Amino acid sequence: MRVHVAFTPAEEVSAPVGIVIDVLRATSTMTQALAAGYRRVLCCSEVDEARAVAAAEGGAVLAGERKTVRIDGFDFGNSPREFLEPAAETVILTTTNGTRLLLAAAERCELVLVGSLLNLEAVVGAAKAAGSEDVAVLCAGVQGELAMDDAFCAGRMAAALGGEPADSAVAAMRLAASFATNEEGLDASQSARNLHASGLHDDIAWCARESVLDVVPRFSRMVGPAAEVTL
Ligand code: MLT
Repeated sequence: MRVHVAFTPAEEVSAPVGIVIDVLRATSTMTQALAAGYRRVLCCSEVDEARAVAAAEGGAVLAGERKTVRIDGFDFGNSPREFLEPAAETVILTTTNGTRLLLAAAERCELVLVGSLLNLEAVVGAAKAAGSEDVAVLCAGVQGELAMDDAFCAGRMAAALGGEPADSAVAAMRLAASFATNEEGLDASQSARNLHASGLHDDIAWCARESVLDVVPRFSRMVGPAAEVTL
């Protein structure tokens, strides 16, 4: 198995299996929500689309952020700590980078898995079990640029996947190995600085916990403009 890492969404690394990462915080939030008992997450690019999908679905909760804070009129923001108990069957989620990357990956990969540190071991097991020759770890980044938190998580994931690492995977593993702890790796990022500025520091330690959730969210189908993620 060859393992590739795309540090930004513009690197259209193509592989049958894609692991989408936005560790601070979209993919951590999706993972936590499904582990807590939500049945599905509908990922939308735009706020208006999310509102329209919510109107069509009925009974769903609306969640998401712009500039890390909860969108006006939405039930929740994008903090995994808001998803400890299911408040409905469906979460409709729109975030700045993570939900958009998931939609892009759904167009390119045969199997799209949602990865974070929270479910690292489970997602690595599922990617290996898929038996594909190529696996791509796809990082959301921030506004098109490499984000240290995602690159760190991609390095941890590439190390756990093993196989034959492409240079991109070797670079990610070396980067990850330069930090003493997961929290240090996440905290070195612009994403973390944005969370600190919004008073959301507790999300960093929360998302830094590794392999505490034994779930593998995956893209299942499109529901209108939304990518549906289920277990
Ligand atoms: C994103 O999708 O850009 C992030 O998840 C932002 C955030 O931390 O809320």
